[in-house]
Order: sequence, then C-alpha cells, then structure tokens
Amino acid sequence: MPSITSIDATNTEDLRQIARRRIPRALFDYVDRGSYDELTLRSNRSDLDAIRLRQRVLVDVSKVTLATSMLGEPVSMPVAIAPTGMTGLIHGNGEMLGARAAEAAGTKFCLSTMSICTIEDVREVVEKPFWFQLYVFRDRGFSSSVIERARAANCSALFVTVDLPMRGQRHMDIKNGLTVPLRISLRNVIDVATKPAWAMSVLRARRRGFGNVEAFLNSRGGIMASGSWANENYDRTLNWRDIDWVRSLWPGKLVLKGILDVEDAKRAASAGVDAIVVSNHGGRQLDGARSSIASLPDIANAVGDRIEVLFDGGIRSGQDVMKALASGARGCLIGRAFLYGLAAGGEAGVRRVLELIRAELEVSMALTGQCDIQAITRDVIAP
Ligand SMILES: Cc1cc2nc3c(=O)[nH]c(=O)nc-3n(C[C@H](O)[C@H](O)[C@H](O)COP(=O)(O)O)c2cc1C
Repeated sequence: MPSITSIDATNTEDLRQIARRRIPRALFDYVDRGSYDELTLRSNRSDLDAIRLRQRVLVDVSKVTLATSMLGEPVSMPVAIAPTGMTGLIHGNGEMLGARAAEAAGTKFCLSTMSICTIEDVREVVEKPFWFQLYVFRDRGFSSSVIERARAANCSALFVTVDLPMRGQRHMDIKNGLTVPLRISLRNVIDVATKPAWAMSVLRARRRGFGNVEAFLNSRGGIMASGSWANENYDRTLNWRDIDWVRSLWPGKLVLKGILDVEDAKRAASAGVDAIVVSNHGGRQLDGARSSIASLPDIANAVGDRIEVLFDGGIRSGQDVMKALASGARGCLIGRAFLYGLAAGGEAGVRRVLELIRAELEVSMALTGQCDIQAITRDVIAP
C-alpha cells in the first residue's frame, strides 16, 4: 500500500482522484454518485460552495482550539465518520481501519448496519466506544438482536436512519452491475483484474459479505444471501411509534439520521431523542430534496436548544465544516470524504483526510478571527 503523503494529496479531491484509479469502477461510482438526476447530490456541494465567510483581521489567533464534544463525548474536532455500507469492499477490513483512524484522530466512527466487518470485528480494534447506525428491517428480530450486539460491544450512540423506507435508485449501480445479486460482466472482470492492490486487500480481508446481517441469518439457519435478504427487508411501515420501541431497547444516546424538514425536527425533539442528523443521505435518496446545508439553519433555530443538531452532506474540507457550524450544527459527519481516503490509502488515507480537514478548519478559524470552535456563530458568514 503506497503511503499517502502530503505531496500525493493536498486536499480531498486529490484523494478522490487516487481512489478513482485504485478501485474498480463499479465501486467508485457506488461511492461517488447519487440517486436519479443527482440534483440533490450536486446542490449539497454547490450550496456549501455558495456560502461566503467573513475575513476578519488583527485578532490574536495564536491559540485556536478545535476540541469540543459530540453527543456528550469529547472529540478533538467536530468531524466524525458517517456510517457507510459495503465499506469493507472499498478496502479490505475498511470499517476496522476507519474506526482505528478515527480513534487515532481523537474523533468518532459510526458503523453501518450494512457494513462488511461486524460490530464485534470493530470492537476488537478500538479502545473507546464507537457509534452504531441502525436500519430497521421488517424482521424486528434482526433489529433487536443487532441493538443487543451494539450494547454488548459498548457502542455509545445508536443512529436510526429514517430516510430510507425504500431505496432510491442510483442509475450507475444498475449500469455497472452493482446490483443484488451482482451482475458479472466482462468489463467488471477486466476492471477487477486491473486493480491488483485493491483485490489483494479484499482477498486478504476477514470478510466479504454483509457481516452483521450474515451473523443474524446464520443464527437462523442462513438460507438466503445477506444482500438479497436486506434488500427485501427495508421496512416501509417504519413510523414515529417505532422510535418509542427502539428507545425501549436502547438506553444510550439515540439519534435520528436523515431529518431535512423543520416539522420532522420538532417532532424528533418531542419524541425524546438526543440528537438528529440533518441529512439527505448524501443525495442518494430523494432526488429534488433541498440540500442539507440549505435545510440546516431553520432546523437548528427550531430545535437546537433542545437536542443536538449534527450535519452531513457535501463536507469535503475544513471550510465546509466551518460553514456547517456557522449554520447551526454542533458537528459534522463525512461520508464520501472518508471513503475517498480509505480507497486511496487504507487506514493512512483515512488519517490523511482527517488531518487535511483539521488543518483547513484551523486555518479557516484563524482567518475568520475565531479562537474557540464552540463559539462559532452565524456571524462568521458574510451577509
Ligand atoms: C457509499 C455510501 C454508503 C452509504 N451507506 C449508508 C448506510 O449504510 N447507512 C446510512 O445511514 N447512511 C449511509 N450513507 C450516507 C452517509 O451516512 C452520509 O449521510 C452521506 O454520505 C453524507 O454525505 P457526503 O457523502 O457528501 O459526506 C452512505 C453514503 C455513501 C456515500
């Protein structure tokens, strides 16, 4: 695995370009692309780009502190790793590597239900608690058993993803044959054969199936492939009453991920959850939905004094983090930026992306005259 030095990658886009060369096309597109016409995917980025920061001068910024807390836990900066499915195919053991890199950087990692490594695999390689993201499937036996496993593994927060009662379609996944079951074409075979470093990392890895789901299916006699089972089991009946049910099983921090509407945010605050993630699933679900950053200020104004407001969607740099904090977020999650780093350089690549974002955030604070990350307000945004 080549090391990711500062010369290779001076920003996330460099890591994205390295990732594009290193992993099969179908997997790169799975990470990079969005649903349908990708309107929401694009506006997540363009709306962040459109925000301008206020340059302020002659402030003593010799001591800038990025340390804060997310969900009551100390973090060295308000940037955590978002839950992403199939991460152990982007790089062998990807979830274990991501969790380790986050811990080394003093921040948090959220494991997806649809991960390749299991909850227990990740638990083995970290000291501190990590977070777990739950998809509620029709088979509630799965949810209760996976919640129990997350508790046993000492996970400190449960993120219930609420923006996926049905899967949005990503055209490229279908065109590339990244479907359940996989469509193997000659192009796929050639593509894989020309990515030897990636292939080695995946071949040497502990697992290649959806680890959490497989563990459950095996306990039930394992009659179906985990991908097909999950695909057929997303629960379209999921509603607010089910949040009470999840609450009854989970005593720790409870987070709803995928809130984009002020009314839903208010309802979440009344439902007794600890936090929400303002998110449109990285432009992978409802195409035509507003960008996350455009939705954030109103939501933060409405519920920010009652519950913690986290944010994701389009974060690629420290400047983006600054804009999200100024728009009312307590902290941010990174999905694609994490995966570009992982695909480009494994654990070192994830460390690199976190370092880059940290350095950019620190400089942005200094140049806007901010010394304390917790004191950032709307004031840093140019009118
Ligand atoms: C490849 C990929 C897989 C994802 N899988 C999941 C998942 O399993 N569960 C989930 O709640 N969100 C999932 N997401 C959404 C992310 O958690 C996050 O909301 C999104 O990536 C944020 O946008 P960004 O990629 O622009 O940072 C996924 C995103 C990507 C890019």
